Amino acid sequence: MKSKSSELQAGNTSRRSFLQQLGLGSSLLGLGVLGGLTIPQTSFAACEPPGTPGTPARHRRDCRQIRPRRPATTLSSSEVLKLRDAYKAMRALSVSDPSDPRGFTHQANVHCWYCGEGTQIHGSWQFFTWHRAYLYFHERILGRLINDPDLRLPYWDWETPSHRRLPVAYSTPNDTTNSLSNSTRTMSATDEIPEEDVGDDVMDAALNAGAFAEFGGTATAGGIPEYAPHGSVHVDVGGNMGAFATAARDPIFFAHHANLDKMWSDWIKQSSTHLNPSSTAFLNLSWNFYDENKVWRSITAAQVLNHESQLRYTYGPSRFFEILPCLLDWVIVRTDWRVAKRLNFTPALKAQTAKLTESGGRTRVHFTGLELPMDRSAVYRVYTSAEAAKADPGPGSEPYLGSIPIVLTGHEKHRATRRAPNAIFTLSKKAIGELTQKGTVQPAIVERGVKDGARKVILVRATDVHFSQAGVAR
Ligand code: C2O
Repeated sequence: MKSKSSELQAGNTSRRSFLQQLGLGSSLLGLGVLGGLTIPQTSFAACEPPGTPGTPARHRRDCRQIRPRRPATTLSSSEVLKLRDAYKAMRALSVSDPSDPRGFTHQANVHCWYCGEGTQIHGSWQFFTWHRAYLYFHERILGRLINDPDLRLPYWDWETPSHRRLPVAYSTPNDTTNSLSNSTRTMSATDEIPEEDVGDDVMDAALNAGAFAEFGGTATAGGIPEYAPHGSVHVDVGGNMGAFATAARDPIFFAHHANLDKMWSDWIKQSSTHLNPSSTAFLNLSWNFYDENKVWRSITAAQVLNHESQLRYTYGPSRFFEILPCLLDWVIVRTDWRVAKRLNFTPALKAQTAKLTESGGRTRVHFTGLELPMDRSAVYRVYTSAEAAKADPGPGSEPYLGSIPIVLTGHEKHRATRRAPNAIFTLSKKAIGELTQKGTVQPAIVERGVKDGARKVILVRATDVHFSQAGVAR
């Protein structure tokens, strides 16, 4: 953990211990303190269903000019002004006409409804498609409110090392004069998203996902980037962003998700073997949204797969196209997890891995149905042993395997219905060295940002654990 990234955690931890030192129960302060997140109780107010609008009209062909979505940190001052005006108008609409579905509160509640209150689009292959459709209608409404059909959402490209802070337009000033601000964030204007959550290793693991099932999930499981970087950034920003029910009350939500949408776009562009699912079950996924004219519309997954021709926006380039290896197919390597509940790096696997790593190939470890505490939004680190988890030396250390976030829905009753995630970690050279040396390890989990002494170590429980390997194409 580098100094800058620990800043953020240190800030959160000290705030929590400060409250503890005061001996104040969270209810006294009217605050819920969740794993480093301080969330105002009001953020859990119930979200409403999107009305009872009857049969939706079908989504129509979009004939606007194709325009670029741009990095939020590089917007010109007039572009920032425009975006702020649009959100200002959207917020004002919620006040002047609370029944208008284009108002900011209604827009935020749409996300709440789709994150478990009405239906659940997280933790499955609906994640990328649904959010793309949601952002599309949101973006068109913003444009309509300022009469600018060329308005496109910016994206927060947190993977760029110099863009790890909240984009200035959203963070400064952080008061009601700025329509892009949100007073509940735990992340300050000078905090940075940790490298561990959005760095090259995380991007490499996500963009090298072989099949769509790994990248974007299946009907019943989320893909790699839905956890890190997606969930991790939710936890890092904190406040409203720290729980799905309230996340879209923070305008940064839309810039965050525009960047995830770009990741999907980049994953498709990156390889001729990276394809969206072709099953009708996927293509016919359908959701309803109000459009910029308050017309209730239905849109399908098939109608959002090509953002450029169908939804009229493009993204800037990805520097990962230059630096990612061209990997061959992932090959599953099974050991005997079910019996032993230990990670077993057999001599054969050792030899194979040494050769593969030497030539630039990748080795991953998969935890299927990983059991994690579901009582708070937090990031968990997985290590090769309980001792290592207790010491928590962080990424870059030999025993570190990877990290995975849990983002709560925000409603008590949904906690139990959350699925245990499937984690896929690309092993660092150091971790491979550790596994090679030890042969057999018993992995353990610890919550990130908890002070030495207060750390609770959990031995990993998962329905299945296996490895996968991919060589580099020549
Ligand atoms: Cu629908 Cu980032 O959550």
